[in-house]
Amino acid sequence: DGWAAADIFGREFSYTYDDIIMHPGYIDFPADVVDLSSQLSKNITLRTPCVSSPMDTVTETSMAVAMAAVGGIGFVHYNNSAEEQANMVKNAKSQRVGFVSEPVCLRPSATVSEIDSLKARKGFSSVLITEDGTLNSKLLGIVTSRDIDFVSDRKTEVAEVMTTDLVTATAGTSFEDASAVLIKSKKSLLPLVDDNGEVVELLCRTDLKRRSTYPKLGAPSLGKDGKLLVGAAVGTRESDRQRLGLLVEAGVNVVILDSAQGNSIYQKEMISYAKKAHPDIDVIGGNVASSHQARNLIEVGVDGLRVGMGSGSICTTQEVCAVGRGQATAVYQTARMANVVGIPVIADGGISNSGHIVKALTLGASTVMMGSFLAGTEEAPGDYFYQDGRRLKAYRGMGSLEAQAKGSDTRYLGDKSQMRIAQGVSGTVADKGSVLRLVPFTMHAVKQGFQDLGLQSISAARGALSCGNITMEVRTGAAQIEGGVHGLVSYEKKRF
Ligand code: XMP
Repeated sequence: DGWAAADIFGREFSYTYDDIIMHPGYIDFPADVVDLSSQLSKNITLRTPCVSSPMDTVTETSMAVAMAAVGGIGFVHYNNSAEEQANMVKNAKSQRVGFVSEPVCLRPSATVSEIDSLKARKGFSSVLITEDGTLNSKLLGIVTSRDIDFVSDRKTEVAEVMTTDLVTATAGTSFEDASAVLIKSKKSLLPLVDDNGEVVELLCRTDLKRRSTYPKLGAPSLGKDGKLLVGAAVGTRESDRQRLGLLVEAGVNVVILDSAQGNSIYQKEMISYAKKAHPDIDVIGGNVASSHQARNLIEVGVDGLRVGMGSGSICTTQEVCAVGRGQATAVYQTARMANVVGIPVIADGGISNSGHIVKALTLGASTVMMGSFLAGTEEAPGDYFYQDGRRLKAYRGMGSLEAQAKGSDTRYLGDKSQMRIAQGVSGTVADKGSVLRLVPFTMHAVKQGFQDLGLQSISAARGALSCGNITMEVRTGAAQIEGGVHGLVSYEKKRF
């Protein structure tokens, strides 16, 4: 009854996650004992097998902090200058879980109308007023909505309305102690300041209130340096070698090469260079979709592989270039070879629900990389806006013309023609709340999937897959429709 993966994927078809359905196993354990810890790369293990994609609408400082906070990792994108990217990595690494990742600071000469526009873009109007208008500058005051509600001249400088009667905590105060001070103070913000009176961190009452309703986070991902684990993307150009150097100086723990088609001389040279110049940093290569591509990168010492070509929600590579593979087949075939030689596979792209994650992990992937699933969260870059009554954020492919115009054409190798061809699109995604809620709930759903399959861990899945003990079937189009919600006039698509 049912087929082993080798039977299903050994044929001439290319399947994606929705094409297949796993057969249930035997349950003799509760879902919450399922262990989802897994290798990201040769030398890095994650408690949560989730990775945020290095895209400019997905991973900057806040996402990197949040992904590490939930036990995964974020890869900071490189559609920026090397210095900007290195700063994002540095900032993420210096954060402590629970504090605001990127607090807004303004100079005393800023006007009330600037706070109005902040409120319109970000949805909040509590800001710190510092000497230079930045973090790590002397704290002068705080402005909250109460200070500006009735100011009729919106050109008034914030220095005139800010509150200077402040409650602060000393830099380094633990999250628990800082929370107690904030709650007792009845203020909206608690800045943490160093001996020079400069703000180094911020705790926010609304965050604290919201987070008290989220699941418990568990241990964050930490590097050998004891700081949050943070990754970053680089390309394969000569200038990327210097970028890599800056990232390493900023404390990056692992780098991921970003190419639409990773089986290239450019990537092999970059991997060899990176491994030689920075032997302590794991280097993940890709993207690949087949074992022969993967083998080339493994031969030059890659520590992990990023698998997926054209499977992403914003990708048009398969249409434009006629290359790629159904993602379930790509993951299975690549991982089948890579796992034997101890190289973990990241299933990159095409994840739109927890079931897809269960399928990726049971087909041999060690982790999943997500773009659209995480875009639209509070921690994704960019501001929310409303369209037809829905709260949205922008999400775009790194091969879209808009992203390429900012520099991401380096994904498309060695081209000097100046003719940009889009291999991705720009669009919008719905507000998904905070990563600190989304990922733990999603992971619990994944654990329930593993429980249904009778698998207590990802390593158990690996063993069962290679012995043919995980069985599955290909679903017809009608079976796929049946497997989704159907026959209702309307319904609310809330999963948790
Ligand atoms: P999801 O489905 O999670 O996919 O949104 C994210 C992944 O898609 C890849 N990516 C692209 N692929 N054109 C492509 O063909 C693009 O413009 C593009 N941008 C991102 C990338 O692997 C990412 O992790």
